[in-house]
Amino acid sequence: MALLEVKNLTKNFGGLTAVGDVTMELNEGELVGLIGPNGAGKTTLFNLLTGVYEPSEGTVTLDGTVLNGKAPYKIASLGLSRTFQNIRLFKDMTVLENVLIGLANKQPSHLFASLLRLPKFYSSEEELKAKALDLLAIFDLDGEAETLAKNLAYGQQRRLEIVRALATDPKILFLDEPAAGMNPQETAELTALIRQIKDQFGITIILIEHDMNLVMEVTERIYVLEYGRLIAHGTPDEIKNNKRVIEAYLGGEA
Ligand SMILES: Nc1ncnc2c1ncn2[C@@H]1O[C@H](COP(=O)(O)OP(=O)(O)OP(=O)(O)O)[C@@H](O)[C@H]1O
Ligand SMILES: [Mg+2]
Repeated sequence: MALLEVKNLTKNFGGLTAVGDVTMELNEGELVGLIGPNGAGKTTLFNLLTGVYEPSEGTVTLDGTVLNGKAPYKIASLGLSRTFQNIRLFKDMTVLENVLIGLANKQPSHLFASLLRLPKFYSSEEELKAKALDLLAIFDLDGEAETLAKNLAYGQQRRLEIVRALATDPKILFLDEPAAGMNPQETAELTALIRQIKDQFGITIILIEHDMNLVMEVTERIYVLEYGRLIAHGTPDEIKNNKRVIEAYLGGEA
């Protein structure tokens, strides 16, 4: 059985079908791409999978557990973590605090222990901090631990969002256009990082990205959406040469 199974998923907004009858699956440890022209329904699909929207039809199953109808925080606690197309950080908090929030969510007894000032609190507080700093180091952000998030450079903010998502120890990481607005150098660095976190943490990743070089370079399989429908699915080489996909991207001029 696949780690994540998506069956006949549909989301209608009034008369618009943003996601229509999408069936797909993610296997453990895979790095999968999700591409398609602007407005194809990619972010809406992420919103359905992470519980931001309820599907109009269809089911989402994680490790045998049906996610339909569960709140986003519940789905997050089951192991789905994401970044957003538009960066969402706690801008007036430090880099370290932004990551600690993600880590703290993972520790249900944490608040209780801290209220009682149990020794456990201190050790786990130190442990959490050490883990956060380890993660930040991977993303070359440990030197900025005390910097306010709003004072980071744009590319650093994008990386911090990924660290924060990783801090919850997800089974599946959803990245919505992580390279958006990055220069080629930053994009190349990010490509290497995405590959590294997949290998190092054995995490399953699904990546929405308009930068075709990045998608083709790092993913093993790619799903292509157009007007909410899946129009193709295959290896990067298959997708690159798929007539239907080429047409979709050229707006029918191919
Ligand atoms: N909350 C909403 N209410 C109404 N329509 C919506 C809503 N969210 C998305 N849509 C519409 O659904 C369609 C798919 O949008 P979505 O943001 O999922 O596309 P996308 O593939 O992520 O595009 P992009 O590459 O530009 O980010 C668009 O036509 C969009 O206008
Ligand atoms: Mg989008």
